[in-house]
Amino acid sequence: MKRRDFLISGTLATAVSGSPGIAAADGTFLKARPALTVAHITDVHIRPKDDIPERFKRCLEEVKKHKMDFVLNGGDSIHAADYQDVTRESMLKQWATWDECIKPLSGIPIYSCIGNHDPWWHAPSKEDEMYGVNYAAKRVGIPHRYYSFVKKNWHFIILDGNNAGVKLDDKQMAWLENELDSVPSGHHVLLMSHFPILSVTAAWAGGQHGDHVALRKLFYKHKDKVRVCLSGHNHLLDSNVFNNVHYFCNGAMSGYWWEKGDEHSAGPYYYQETAPGYAILKLYEDGTVENRYYEHNI
Ligand SMILES: [Fe+2]
Ligand SMILES: [Fe+2]
Repeated sequence: MKRRDFLISGTLATAVSGSPGIAAADGTFLKARPALTVAHITDVHIRPKDDIPERFKRCLEEVKKHKMDFVLNGGDSIHAADYQDVTRESMLKQWATWDECIKPLSGIPIYSCIGNHDPWWHAPSKEDEMYGVNYAAKRVGIPHRYYSFVKKNWHFIILDGNNAGVKLDDKQMAWLENELDSVPSGHHVLLMSHFPILSVTAAWAGGQHGDHVALRKLFYKHKDKVRVCLSGHNHLLDSNVFNNVHYFCNGAMSGYWWEKGDEHSAGPYYYQETAPGYAILKLYEDGTVENRYYEHNI
């Protein structure tokens, strides 16, 4: 397996690549203590076609070797329920394939986000129980379309950008402000969205949150807490750091939607220059983070 050491970053200037930690007053180097190992998979786009389910299951076996504490799933879990011609039967078959594929994760928690291809918008009516984001949230087993949870001294906030203008709705923004206010000092925040909040590649592929300015300002207000933003959607691997927040858009498990690719693919199954893969994050007690993208050839 090829591995890209995508980025190792510290929240303090003294953090050293590959060896997170801080320099003590006497000049000795204190190694930061690991808090959590987390897998970030995104854009699985699973569907019952050819050997795609088997290939995804083999990918999950690779992911499991990293002995992570839990999995963050960035959305677009199923191939596409959002297109006009998708029937109830076809949408349900995609979700059934998702259920079957993630069974081998048994015992490893998976916390998901809703992608733009997950909701079924063309239900016969908005009253249909399978219509829209709420049903997608139910299928991936999350308590609400946006939610949070805490592990050790890390707070995880999962957003839903499937609203007009690819934004948080007003209620969700107020909730997020309150969530960040309530994080105690000395704790760290990782946010996961489907659409990147700040992205290098959004200029030519995918896109980004329409409310990125408001989010950027909010994160700056909480700059002692907000460390990482994870996303997918663009199927491209990119990273940037702004105001000491690290933004990782971690490619796509499905690469070119599990297909061979096109004339722009740098290799088989690639989307443009990004190979199919997933990321493993190491989160440290001091807020340092490592994000490594593992390409797969499955
Ligand atoms: Fe996608
Ligand atoms: Fe997407």
